[in-house]
Amino acid sequence: MLTNEDKYKILEEKNRLAELGGGQNRIDKQHESGRLTARERIDILLDPDSFVELDKYVVHNISDFGMAESKFLGDGVVTGYGNIDGRMVYVFAQDFTVFGGSLSITNANKIVKITKLAMKNGAPLIGLNDSGGARIQEGVQSLAGYADIFLLNVKASGVIPQISAILGPCAGGAVYSPALTDFIFMVKETSYMFVTGPDVVKSVTHEEVTKKELGGAVTHNTKSGVAHFMSENDEQSIMTIREMMSFLPSNNMEDPPIKPNIDPIDRKDEALMKLVPEDPNKPYDIKELINSVCDNHYFFEVQEHYAQNIVIGFGRMNGRPVGFVANQPAFFAGVLDINSSTKAARFVRFCDAFNIPIITLVDVPGFLPGTDQEFGGIIKHGAKLLYAFSEATVPKITLITRKAYGGAYDVMSSKHIGADVNLAYPSAEIAVMGADGAVNILYRNLNDEDKLKAVEEYKEAFANPYRAAELGYIDEIIYPRNTRKRLIEALEMTKNKSEVNPPKKHGNIPL
Ligand code: HXC
Repeated sequence: MLTNEDKYKILEEKNRLAELGGGQNRIDKQHESGRLTARERIDILLDPDSFVELDKYVVHNISDFGMAESKFLGDGVVTGYGNIDGRMVYVFAQDFTVFGGSLSITNANKIVKITKLAMKNGAPLIGLNDSGGARIQEGVQSLAGYADIFLLNVKASGVIPQISAILGPCAGGAVYSPALTDFIFMVKETSYMFVTGPDVVKSVTHEEVTKKELGGAVTHNTKSGVAHFMSENDEQSIMTIREMMSFLPSNNMEDPPIKPNIDPIDRKDEALMKLVPEDPNKPYDIKELINSVCDNHYFFEVQEHYAQNIVIGFGRMNGRPVGFVANQPAFFAGVLDINSSTKAARFVRFCDAFNIPIITLVDVPGFLPGTDQEFGGIIKHGAKLLYAFSEATVPKITLITRKAYGGAYDVMSSKHIGADVNLAYPSAEIAVMGADGAVNILYRNLNDEDKLKAVEEYKEAFANPYRAAELGYIDEIIYPRNTRKRLIEALEMTKNKSEVNPPKKHGNIPL
């Protein structure tokens, strides 16, 4: 008969084995490849000693392909819950040392279990992905496991924040759960995402492409827009997730967490008086304005490397998290195109789902013309942004710094689509189009001298914010030095805003 001492020894041994994953050799290989193990990643993600592991002793139940003799406690994914800055989160970390982190039905069930707990208890779900996709030995059972996860990702969307880090080669099914979550974090030289790898690409399309070109962090952060963040290594990536969580509520019923603020709310910035150049065609960096108005000049940018003609991200204003959406005159003159529209639309919807007020900074010459854009569906994609702003019921504050031309004026959180406070600088130009373009259409046959005169007339009439202010479309024209104070006042005024859209099953955003 076993003594208590024996029983404790058995538990100790099982814990040791579970914590060893696929064994020391594979752990060494993981380290040699510049990556951390699943448990090391969780240690960095969570506050010290806060991790509680679930399902540590789960094993698969497959016997084909010699699998009966090949079982590892935990079966290739570590799951549980713990704290980030004292706030509860649920986490899973795929263990590449066990069957390449591939997904079995048993480890899918572990992920399903914590996702359900996260939804029931209203806490974010963070997935640390490092997986070769469906576990090949399991066949359809593994596909079923994926679908179970996808379904819950969708059910949880807009209920709890869902964050995915891609920390290794993620192939096949391993990319679709992250794609359904709110933000994707990648690591420069060691993480990949693709539906099919370079070998399959070669055999189907005869294209030669490296893993890195096809689905590396740079590709997904600059070209595809699939990912939102790019870090140098696992640790930096995970620390960035910790930071992002500080801006987010735990669920859609909560307000985002307020931090004590010592940055004076009436801090003036004389540099802003000269930020917008007098020449309307000269660029300037809108991030200077965002940095200037945020508490402690700190702006946490999202999708920094993609569609840089629009800037999105989080900041705090008097301690409260806000989302910024800003045209960037320093890149393609801040024009709205397909990529910038979809980038901003998704961010607006995230902020709205999680009660984060939106500050929109407008300097936009319009939508980008051209066959590329029209054939690519700019009508549909631009409509996404229009839809997202119109649908959002969180406080919406808009500041026009310079150009607000044409349809882009309407789209960029105008009064007409429900913004609560609309401000403008004296340098704002609110019109159907720029003066030169307008005169060329209206007075095509005038000589050059008369054209110049007409341009001046048009500018006087429209290249300012006063016509819009006379109509009440702009609530106040402000001195740039006071921007921080004015925005904070607007946020305070709308703090208890309550607005609901008409009841419906769901809208039909132009996808
Ligand atoms: C079972 C797997 C596996 C998998 C890797 N392994 N992927 N075991 N199922 N899907 C195992 C390997 O056999 C190996 O075991 C160990 O994990 C490490 O793999 P390596 O190949 O040695 O590592 P590396 O060279 O770094 O390459 C990693 C990789 C590659 C790029 C992920 O393993 C790979 O291409 N795997 C297959 C990817 C794939 O096609 N998956 C199925 C996608 S279909 P040993 O014992 O040798 O260490 C899919 C459908 C779902 O996911 C669709 C839902 C929508």
